[in-house]
Amino acid sequence: MCGVVGIVSSTRCVQNIFEGLQRLEYRGYDSAGIATLFEGKIHIAKSEGKLKNLEPLLSKLPQNSGIGMGHTRWATHGAPTTLNAHPHVTDEIALIHNGIIENYRELKETLIREGVKFLSETDSEVVLHLLAKELSKGTAMLDALKGVVKQLHGAYGLGVMWKGDPNSLYIVKQGSPVVIGLGKTENYFASDALALLPLTQKIIFLNDGEIGKITASDVQVWDFSGKLLKRDPSILNWSASSADKAGFRHYMLKEIHEQPAVIANTISRLVNFGSSEINIGELGLNELDLQSVRNIIYVACGTAHYSAMIAKYCVEQMTGIPVSVELASEFRYRDPYLNQNTLVIAVTQSGETADTLACIKHAVSKGCQTYSVCNVRFSSIPRACQATLYMEAGPEVGVASTKAFTSMVLCHYLFGMAFAQEIAKGKSGNSDNNLNATDKKVASRVNFAANFEALKVLPSLVDRAINSSGLIEDVAVKYYESLNCLFLGRGPSFMVALEGALKLKEISYIHAEGYAGGELKHGPIALVDKHMPIVAIAPLDLHYEKMISNIEEVRAREGVIIGVGDINDSKLKSLSVDFIPCPQSQDSCLQTILSVVPMQFLSYFIAVKRGTDVDQPRNLAKSVTVE
Ligand code: AGP
Repeated sequence: MCGVVGIVSSTRCVQNIFEGLQRLEYRGYDSAGIATLFEGKIHIAKSEGKLKNLEPLLSKLPQNSGIGMGHTRWATHGAPTTLNAHPHVTDEIALIHNGIIENYRELKETLIREGVKFLSETDSEVVLHLLAKELSKGTAMLDALKGVVKQLHGAYGLGVMWKGDPNSLYIVKQGSPVVIGLGKTENYFASDALALLPLTQKIIFLNDGEIGKITASDVQVWDFSGKLLKRDPSILNWSASSADKAGFRHYMLKEIHEQPAVIANTISRLVNFGSSEINIGELGLNELDLQSVRNIIYVACGTAHYSAMIAKYCVEQMTGIPVSVELASEFRYRDPYLNQNTLVIAVTQSGETADTLACIKHAVSKGCQTYSVCNVRFSSIPRACQATLYMEAGPEVGVASTKAFTSMVLCHYLFGMAFAQEIAKGKSGNSDNNLNATDKKVASRVNFAANFEALKVLPSLVDRAINSSGLIEDVAVKYYESLNCLFLGRGPSFMVALEGALKLKEISYIHAEGYAGGELKHGPIALVDKHMPIVAIAPLDLHYEKMISNIEEVRAREGVIIGVGDINDSKLKSLSVDFIPCPQSQDSCLQTILSVVPMQFLSYFIAVKRGTDVDQPRNLAKSVTVE
């Protein structure tokens, strides 16, 4: 998704804008530009491709300018050309936009009929000319923006710089994230707080329907009706250092290695081993009426969706409450049956995924309770939910999600335990006084002692999984030229297969599919031949023997097995062309946190060998804020 940064400073701003855009590169983009206003003139530098192409052009901009905006564009309408790059400008105005204007065609046709000449193919340029038209009536910028937003349908985070008010930048937020940062002698805006971390941790998260104005010394926020709002800044608890590579070659590799610490921190934050209790308060469960919940629906996209599919196993088993998992992009258009006894849970690293946010808004409109599992405080989805379990995994910059996935799985597991604990205390489940036999069974269905034991050893097991990376690199080198790859798993490991396939696809561009082992003979086995590597995830769980049968089926057709399982599993080793040892948890859901680590390393090393852009794979964005 596009990145936006704006600065109004009492000194100079160009370099800080550029560095802010660098911190937004992880969002994915294909062109970039910066505009400044100096001595009554708008100056602009734009380029196709990466920021390294823009940097040489910065010297053209007035270096003493104290006001400017920058943009990294992830193309939606129009090719990634310099002409389509933002900022879009007239003599009087510069504008940058993150999002999609859904009714831009009819607006553009009207403007063309009125004689407006368009330079680009973008939807964003329409907003520029609508604003110019409003300002030409002699209105102030705030009124002009109020007039413009009335005409727009879609999602937009806008930055506006205007010769008529040379010491101010204006921001509009509707459907695309925009934050305002407060400095000592300067103020900022950006599409996410990560861009501003080295400059400030005092952040105002704008809400939909708000207009902001920043000068070097002041910040004001109005709603779209023009009502002045009081918006106090939040203090972001991320440090600038947590958002850099810390000596690793790629953000993705750093984030893979952060997983033992993330898992350990989450457990220490949410689990009280002394009292054998989960920290209900920290999970936000006191904000929910658990007693009335009769069914749970998870909504998510991509990796988050796969983590939610694992939640179905542990949450349903622990609570006895029916759990369904929906692709957010499908759920929101399905008009599903929902009521006040439904708890809808959004799972999202960024907290900004447009389809997932839309599902929560729909759930709220149907009277459901809403909850989210999210990694970014104050982002849009937690702000739309009644309660949130924050993953606190630290910034995840690599587009391919790694530590967020394992953190999500752990959070789902702890949510299930906490909910089951509340049921066991009689605080939820059937609201009738006489808990029926089913509910009593629910209360007794969780072996809490075993769960706590499995949690106790999990961080060290994750650490051990990380330490196998050397062997995995050797395996990766053998398969980096494969054209296809299958990933097989059963039970919760099926989701590891899905996630492993997604990792390989998104960073190495090799076609890969994750399949339930039992599905192989229903079609995919036709793909198997001696050119097809098949990653078989076979932990020592209740599905093991069936997985071994699937592996035998593949071997009978010369399929190339890459076995992932217990280091002492001689049977799996004997059936594998290559074998990757993986520590074993006593719990099959927690096992997914261990089994996914080899998947992450395998895709990473294959991508590195293939020379693809590991942290910013082609066509991808870290947070998909458009639908
Ligand atoms: C995962 O590697 C991908 N980058 C993508 O599938 C991601 O999980 C998905 O876009 C959801 O993002 P979110 O967790 O921020 O909502």
